[in-house]
Amino acid sequence: MRTAPKSRPPDVARRIKRIGVLTGGGDCPGLNAVIRAVTKSAIYRYGVRVFGIEDGYLGLIEDRVGELSSLHASGILTQGGTILGASNRASPTRYCVDPDADVPCFVDATDKCLATIARHELDALIVIGGDGTMSCADALVERGVNCIGVPKTIDNDIVGTDITFGFTTAYTTATLSLDRLHSTAASHHRVMVCELMGRNAGWLTLHAGLASGSDVILIPEIPFDIDAVCRFVRSRTHRGRGFSIVACAEGACPRDGAPVVARHDPTSPDPIRLGGIGEQVANQISDRTGIETRTTVLGHVQRGGPPVAADRVLATQFGFHALEMVMSGARNRMVVMQNGVIGNTDIRHAAHAQRLVPRDHPLIDIARSVRTSFGDEAS
Ligand code: F6P
Repeated sequence: MRTAPKSRPPDVARRIKRIGVLTGGGDCPGLNAVIRAVTKSAIYRYGVRVFGIEDGYLGLIEDRVGELSSLHASGILTQGGTILGASNRASPTRYCVDPDADVPCFVDATDKCLATIARHELDALIVIGGDGTMSCADALVERGVNCIGVPKTIDNDIVGTDITFGFTTAYTTATLSLDRLHSTAASHHRVMVCELMGRNAGWLTLHAGLASGSDVILIPEIPFDIDAVCRFVRSRTHRGRGFSIVACAEGACPRDGAPVVARHDPTSPDPIRLGGIGEQVANQISDRTGIETRTTVLGHVQRGGPPVAADRVLATQFGFHALEMVMSGARNRMVVMQNGVIGNTDIRHAAHAQRLVPRDHPLIDIARSVRTSFGDEAS
């Protein structure tokens, strides 16, 4: 990792006149804070013009690009979602020309993207997104476009950075929901299984599970044994607790099992949508223990709403540093946070990869020590 650039060679800064910005992949709280930081810093600090690209790479392919004024960037810091729109389907190399057809047809639209970039005379692109967005940038980087990445996702699974913006808001939202399940679970002496997002990474469930004092935390990185889960739940009931909260990641899977797929979206570069494991776990608990069990799927609630203060700060820092990198002449880097320090890494480092929870992560040990089950304990 390199630390953020401190000095700006004036000749490079003078050459940069117009920057494009897009938000790719699924949305998350804090995207607008990044757009605001990029746009305002570009205009006020450097007199550089910023062009918003609609709906991620789709807007680049379809030439839907408009200039952002400081007015566009005003009043959006606290807003969830993205004023630019997002798409987790469009990729420059895999553009679906007829999404409604029975068998979708894909074409390489990299040349269309390059034509849009040339038409608007964009000197660099700031691409805000997850691993899919960074992977999509690959094709443009190969063709000489300078892409500077800003890592976002509620999943917190981007390689190279300790944290992504959107994650803290999402796990705060999930924690508050788990807190609410707690009181109703206690009143009815039930088991409440709550399914959280996160794809194949357990960060969101681990953090929300720990913050809410969930009794069982099931994450993809630790395959669970349903017998161990049932033993744990039963022992809580016998010890007079009378209820249990199970925080279950959508990617959690039983030992010798596979993640549960909710649906395939063939028009998306990442076609698998996980979902359904919460219901399966709940049914197995109620069948095996006889304890009344209910399921809640938090779903996209975790992606919505205003960013919490920490995400506003992180997103603003990331946006500012992305712009600083462009202005300093850096090429094809992604802003990162490592050990509390903002730096940058090769954008290709974050492509086609996911950062999972290490099995020896300190939070797992801490959770175990306050008697949280990960569903893998021996009898
Ligand atoms: O990557 C963010 C995320 O919310 C995942 O946690 C989830 O699996 C996926 O996106 C859902 O995607 P979609 O919005 O396409 O249903």
